[in-house]
Amino acid sequence: MIRIAVVGSRGRLGAAVARFLESEPGYSVTRVSRDDLDLSDLRVVEDVIGGLEFDLLFNSAALTAVDFCEGEEELAMTVNADAPGKMAEIAASKGARMIHVGTDYVYGGEEDAPRCEGDLALPKSAYGRSKLAGDEKVMAVDPEFLVIRTSWVFGPDRPSFLDMMLDRAREHEVVAAVADKVSTPCYSEDFGKLLVSLIGVEGAGGLVNLCNSGSCSWQQYAQVGLDSLVACGVPVKTEHIGAVGLANMTQFVAPRPVFTAMSTEHFHEITGVKPRPWQEAVDTYVRDHYAKRLQVSGT
Ligand SMILES: NC(=O)c1ccc[n+]([C@@H]2O[C@H](COP(=O)([O-])OP(=O)(O)OC[C@H]3O[C@@H](n4cnc5c(N)ncnc54)[C@H](OP(=O)(O)O)[C@@H]3O)[C@@H](O)[C@H]2O)c1
Repeated sequence: MIRIAVVGSRGRLGAAVARFLESEPGYSVTRVSRDDLDLSDLRVVEDVIGGLEFDLLFNSAALTAVDFCEGEEELAMTVNADAPGKMAEIAASKGARMIHVGTDYVYGGEEDAPRCEGDLALPKSAYGRSKLAGDEKVMAVDPEFLVIRTSWVFGPDRPSFLDMMLDRAREHEVVAAVADKVSTPCYSEDFGKLLVSLIGVEGAGGLVNLCNSGSCSWQQYAQVGLDSLVACGVPVKTEHIGAVGLANMTQFVAPRPVFTAMSTEHFHEITGVKPRPWQEAVDTYVRDHYAKRLQVSGT
């Protein structure tokens, strides 16, 4: 039995991971949410994490509001870097492993090839800098700890960009999304399953990218989701997602990287498992969750 503590268990990714591991034989899960632990207070981190019994500490809690972080870099550094660093020290002192979740926003996004684990990270934003510092602090404690970098997370536990675009298409005749920013979506339910393959690999450590396979712009991502919604027979006001340039998104406070498609080749090499294409994962989510929720609520 692997005793795993999931920190961030109410978040989009953490909730899916906790639920999946609870359904798997061989895992005993302790959920740790913000109600149990405020990561902005390192003494609380020490007390709460220090008081838990676990073999594996999984952390997906983070200050994820990219624009908010831009004006609150000190807080972002505490929550996204110092707290994971402290958690890693505690895990090491207990002889436990740690898996920490990182982001594609650590990359500058200037090169147009999928990002690999060995690529130089040059974050453009306070969020990206704080997350990179977190990755480094965790790996400085033990290079065998895993830092899993993911991107564009969507899933049933908390609305994401995808839900927002589908909501808009049901409510408005004109909907557009950024067509010149590229990355790779990650279905939180797939992440949970894929994580188990990674946990099972003896000696897997360091940086690993994990998301669905392939790449797309925000516009393509939203269009595939909308196509699935239309195929489910859900009434929409438009079947077309228009294109807008990243430079026109004047409401963004923090600079965003332009190209952070993620290569999952390293994950495939070490686990033998290939994440399914993002289009299939988006279709599954829209059919099994987004459209179903509408049918249940009668809207
Ligand atoms: N979402 C994405 O597209 C994306 C992309 C790349 C990487 N990631 C990374 O993936 C991980 C999970 O992201 P997510 O999508 O699950 O984000 P999320 O839904 O925002 O979840 C983050 C969790 O962290 C918790 N949290 C925030 N500040 C905290 C604090 N001071 N103390 C304790 N808990 C705190 C939040 O608490 P509340 O429940 O109170 O909100 C939330 O449950 C993060 O490390 C993120 O950097 C996400």
